[in-house]
Amino acid sequence: MSHDAIALCRLDELVEGQARGFDPLGSGKDSVFALRHGGEVRVYRNSCPHLEVRLEYRKDRFLSVDGSQIVCYAHGARFLPDSGLCVYGPCLGERLTALKWQAQADWLVLEADQLEACGP
Ligand code: FES
Repeated sequence: MSHDAIALCRLDELVEGQARGFDPLGSGKDSVFALRHGGEVRVYRNSCPHLEVRLEYRKDRFLSVDGSQIVCYAHGARFLPDSGLCVYGPCLGERLTALKWQAQADWLVLEADQLEACGP
């Protein structure tokens, strides 16, 4: 694995309808999160386009109860899991920042150069 890539987890650890937060920068806060939706894995910066705060209300709680949408618990914005598009709330029409990843030996690996914008 190259020095410019960061492994987050094994791909089979991402379960349909659930999300997981990660702290690849070691900042003490989960700055990115990943989910599996419709069989596809997506990774987003953990920052709401409304006020640039983290979305989850506690560890790994990024999704609505039924797992169908991403929720920002600050003011209730909702986002589509496959595109990050806000479909409800104060940032309607804006998007979460999607991050590029690749599978390496069954691991979810992020390109590290995207992470500078994910700092605290
Ligand atoms: S900060 Fe996310 S909806 Fe306001």
